[in-house]
Amino acid sequence: MTVTIVGSQLGDEGKGGVVDLYGDAADVVARYQGGDNAGHTVVDDGEKYKLSLVPSGAVRGKVGVLGNGCVVNPETLFDEIDTLRDRGLEPDVRVAERAHVILPYHRALDGIEEEKKEDLAAGTTKRGIGPTYEDKAGRRGVRIGDLLDPEVLRERLEYVVPQKKALAEDVFGKETGEEFDIDHLYETYREYGERLAEENMTVDCGTFLQEHIDDGDNVMLEGAQGTSLDIDHGVYPYVTSSNPTSGGATVGTGLGPTVVGKGEVVGIVKAYLSRVGTGPLPTELGGVEDQTPNYDGAEGADDAEEELATYIRDEGGEYGTVTGRPRRVGWLDMPMLRHAARANGFTGLAINHIDVLAGLDEVKVGHSYEFDGEEIFTMPPTTEQWGRCEATFRTFDGWPEVDWAEVAAEGYDAVPENARTYLEYVSDELDTPIYAIGVGPGREETVIVENPYESA
Ligand code: IMP
Repeated sequence: MTVTIVGSQLGDEGKGGVVDLYGDAADVVARYQGGDNAGHTVVDDGEKYKLSLVPSGAVRGKVGVLGNGCVVNPETLFDEIDTLRDRGLEPDVRVAERAHVILPYHRALDGIEEEKKEDLAAGTTKRGIGPTYEDKAGRRGVRIGDLLDPEVLRERLEYVVPQKKALAEDVFGKETGEEFDIDHLYETYREYGERLAEENMTVDCGTFLQEHIDDGDNVMLEGAQGTSLDIDHGVYPYVTSSNPTSGGATVGTGLGPTVVGKGEVVGIVKAYLSRVGTGPLPTELGGVEDQTPNYDGAEGADDAEEELATYIRDEGGEYGTVTGRPRRVGWLDMPMLRHAARANGFTGLAINHIDVLAGLDEVKVGHSYEFDGEEIFTMPPTTEQWGRCEATFRTFDGWPEVDWAEVAAEGYDAVPENARTYLEYVSDELDTPIYAIGVGPGREETVIVENPYESA
């Protein structure tokens, strides 16, 4: 069977921990979208592994697959594999021949275009994700399978590189170097192709996964980013360029929707909201310069709210892992979650970080929005409309700081009562059962209510 893991908010919901935990029962862990924009840390036997592309299951001896819906930077892929090997692991990673390749000119253009976009910039990770998906849709992409066929690779590069070079030089007025040089790219990427072939890493993803399922194996489909960063269902244009929603799990692997639909779809929810980058955020607390629209600085801010935002940010470690820049934080946004529950068809929820909110007198939730004089319960379709929404809050009594490791060991009934009231409100509103509750960063700090592989 399959279990699909999807972020229900704006990324960074703690998907990695849940993938790691439920992944124990999986034989294969496949990613279906995104690329090396998805930083995750895996802790195994006290060893910390930082990965951005290789599925985390590969650290634990599972087969890790990068599906056809992913965009793959071979340099990152081999760096991560080599680092894991240097540390004594033998990762088994397969890559879909239909996946698209991130080339150096994609990374260069990601930076150049973001700079130019100013207010419309999504604050991308500058890994070349968007430009690679653009070329995929424009039918001028290079796929993993092309790296294994030097003639095809040369032909593709000769067609596309002059266009990219002209874009960088003539439209954006930038000087270009070897990242736009056909011969250099051909030699480098042909070698990557040779290594992929030598190590027998490429697969026809759908067939590969279906064979595992037919053999009775458990497959985990690991979404990156989150629903509100989805190119179709997110807050466009402040989104990534792929479909983190569960539909992406079928298109991005080649498994049929009926196969994925027969399995479970677990929505990962952070007990509050965090956001990297710009765009509206109706339940935002305080604000962050250069990210919050119209941020008027500490002077215009409500002191108590700023203090609370800083408290949650610090307790939750809400700072970019690479840049260290503060993330925006806010209360849980139920219209956003109702939208996610519908778009993904969640069968279960994992709610993380309830320990971060412990010790607060009260915890608020954006229950609905006031939009042009009306109360609405889900996100409106355009980002401009979303920007006009004002959250209507519900207030819950806070819960105390407790020994969370003990709570995790004892189970759901040991969760403080007020926290259970909060969790049950979310579950009832989304009409979806709770499968797990994250009560701390460690692997053991999760209350497991249901393991989807065991209940099948
Ligand atoms: P891109 O995916 O690099 O094109 O970035 C597009 C948007 O998605 C930006 O707002 C990024 O901050 C956001 N984003 C991409 N990956 C992640 C992630 O793993 N966590 C949170 N935000 C992300």
